[in-house]
Amino acid sequence: MILAVVNQKGGVGKTTLAVHLAAWHLDRGRRVAFIDADGQSSSSRWIRGARWNVTLHAETAADSILELAAALEPAHDVVIADGPASLAESTRALLLIADYVLIPCGVTVPELESTAETVRMLVNARRVRGGSKPPAHLVLTRVRSDRFLLTRDALQAIHSLGLPVCETVLRLREATADAAGQRTAVWKMGPRGKRAADETLELLQEIDAHARTTIDDGNAQLTAIAVPPRRRIAAAIGGRS
Ligand SMILES: Nc1ncnc2c1ncn2[C@@H]1O[C@H](COP(=O)(O)OP(=O)(O)OP(=O)(O)O)[C@@H](O)[C@H]1O
Ligand SMILES: [Mg+2]
Repeated sequence: MILAVVNQKGGVGKTTLAVHLAAWHLDRGRRVAFIDADGQSSSSRWIRGARWNVTLHAETAADSILELAAALEPAHDVVIADGPASLAESTRALLLIADYVLIPCGVTVPELESTAETVRMLVNARRVRGGSKPPAHLVLTRVRSDRFLLTRDALQAIHSLGLPVCETVLRLREATADAAGQRTAVWKMGPRGKRAADETLELLQEIDAHARTTIDDGNAQLTAIAVPPRRRIAAAIGGRS
């Protein structure tokens, strides 16, 4: 299974999510490969520093990404790719080969609006692949809890992206920000990482369930455009849409 974490918008939490996905699968005894498709190499440094047993490759050229993912898949349970900001070609390559796609995005309206470009690429990749693959979820990240006014506008912007949204959101947490520097996962940080760990683990579990359902169910589910679960997301953000 090839999981791609993409968004051409920078700084939305792609690397944070991709590296935690790798750690989560590793903790469950799975053979994990990781493609760092971002020339900034932040996920490579994180994974190398953590000394996790992950097959790690850094590759930014689109055709090489396609070849690498295909080559890694047979010997691994999961191949996780961390997409770059801006580089359209490599993001497109990931969308062409992925079994399942996660699009992290902040909840500010500008971030959501710039994510529309990545969603457009996703829709075009589905067209090239015959209609409905890869399935994808939006993941709301870096959520502040005190932005009531933003919530309604943001929900509208989320809705207009037309993608299903993970119900669990990642709030802005100090421990999550520190995890990269400490080269670890939030659930390995002890009590100070507890809240970040709880919600990250909840999100990863939800993602795993989505990945299984959408991939197993074939095309039927993939074509459905889900309406964001407004009430739950609004509650998580702290508003009452
Ligand atoms: N939930 C969170 N709480 C606090 N900080 C976060 C959270 N998610 C991400 N960050 C921080 O925000 C910054 C951007 O996150 P990250 O590097 O994961 O984004 P990215 O989309 O991979 O960025 P780029 O496009 O530059 O590759 C990092 O400093 C990261 O530690
Ligand atoms: Mg990154």
